[in-house]
Amino acid sequence: MKVRLKIWRQKNSKSKGAFATYDFDGVSPEMSFLEMLDALNTKLVQEGREPVAFDHDCREGICGSCGMYINGYPHSPVPGITTCHLSMRYFNDGDTITVEPWRAKTFPVIKDLMVDRSAFDKIQVAGGFISVNTGAAPDSNSIPCRKKHADEAFDSASCIGCGACVAACKNASAMLFLSAKISQLALLPQGRIEAKERVREMVSVMDELGFGNCSNTGACEAQCPKGIKLTNIARLNREYYKAF
Ligand code: SF4
Ligand code: FES
Repeated sequence: MKVRLKIWRQKNSKSKGAFATYDFDGVSPEMSFLEMLDALNTKLVQEGREPVAFDHDCREGICGSCGMYINGYPHSPVPGITTCHLSMRYFNDGDTITVEPWRAKTFPVIKDLMVDRSAFDKIQVAGGFISVNTGAAPDSNSIPCRKKHADEAFDSASCIGCGACVAACKNASAMLFLSAKISQLALLPQGRIEAKERVREMVSVMDELGFGNCSNTGACEAQCPKGIKLTNIARLNREYYKAF
């Protein structure tokens, strides 16, 4: 099949970007979206042109590095998947596909479709851990934990830190991301010890970095490839109020 790609090209964070148009023939419906970009880059290199820079690593929906806007949707027009899981069979022959980097002041463009998401790392470093002595793994039943809480903590822990929630939010809020990180620890006994300090520190760093606040629009939940729920934000707010 043949597609027309309108891809955001930007030399670096200081330069002004613009869309470039590529008419790309020979796309197989069996290709993943990233494989299609790989094939485009091979063609560009063969023609002596600059390939398109984009982030990717696991290509299995795990690492969270492959985010980009596709036809106006963070990650993908298909709900619940990362860009690397998007298949070209979702498009039709002759389609125009618009590809852009995350749009958020806190995620500056490095080049083309690559953005700097290290702001998330800074929030995580501020408290997204528990302090324990390492040693042999404890018996699985030595710390009682309700099954419901274990399941909810597991769901929250499935956040891959991709940043689609920030990109989708009109306020560029990181509340869904942060609430997942807070919840996965707040729901388990191991996380309770440092809970107050953790939430105070992580919220403080998030605010300092310039992320916006949540206004309950729900775009983050709708675009999250891992189905992280807004109820996590409610839990984050409760944890924050209890921390003072
Ligand atoms: S909450 Fe969802 S959209 Fe936001 S970083 Fe985590 S996985 Fe990505
Ligand atoms: S490349 Fe790792 S989630 Fe897409």
